[in-house]
Amino acid sequence: MEATVEKHLKNLQWLSQEKNATKDDVRGIYDNWAAEYDGSMPDICQCQNWKQIVRPLDVAVSKAFPDKGKDEIKIIDVAAGTGLTGVELNKLGYTSIDALDISQEMLNEANKKDVYKRFICTHLGDQHTSEIQSGEYDALTCVNALGNKHILPTALEEMCRIVSKGKKHIFVVGVTSA
Ligand SMILES: C[S@@+](CC[C@H](N)C(=O)[O-])C[C@H]1O[C@@H](n2cnc3c(N)ncnc32)[C@H](O)[C@@H]1O
Repeated sequence: MEATVEKHLKNLQWLSQEKNATKDDVRGIYDNWAAEYDGSMPDICQCQNWKQIVRPLDVAVSKAFPDKGKDEIKIIDVAAGTGLTGVELNKLGYTSIDALDISQEMLNEANKKDVYKRFICTHLGDQHTSEIQSGEYDALTCVNALGNKHILPTALEEMCRIVSKGKKHIFVVGVTSA
């Protein structure tokens, strides 16, 4: 196994085993990984086809908002990382995408992709995210970030809050990497 891949895989394994790992540990791991993420993630993660992952969102959005253009659909990419999900959404015609992530270094990499409008550097958990209003977004993606001390089930209520439009919630969630 290549040394870079091994190093980052070890960090993820440590995170899954360390009971007392904190959000600062998560942030540190990704701040460290950011510059090497795009080159090494496909060798680490089982869920690496971002193009395929965003397709269900495209289908759901066109059914839920038949009268809205894709450029009018506001999407929040939770745990956006370096922006691999945003790139695929943008290829489908979505231009109003914001990125949320706990790691500023990951968001700096995402910024280079030139597909996000706003960057929100915060931890998403069970607390109200003050930067985001209720129902501010039409759809939400969260890819490779559920579980393993990342986005926990207790954050689901907050995720619903930010995309609530009456009874319509559009979520696309990919499997976690660890
Ligand atoms: C494996 S990466 C996935 C990045 C991107 N979604 C992808 O598929 O390539 C996980 C990301 O989740 C972020 N993250 C982990 N826990 C978080 C939390 N509670 N709130 C916000 N971001 C979090 C990390 O900083 C990292 O960028």
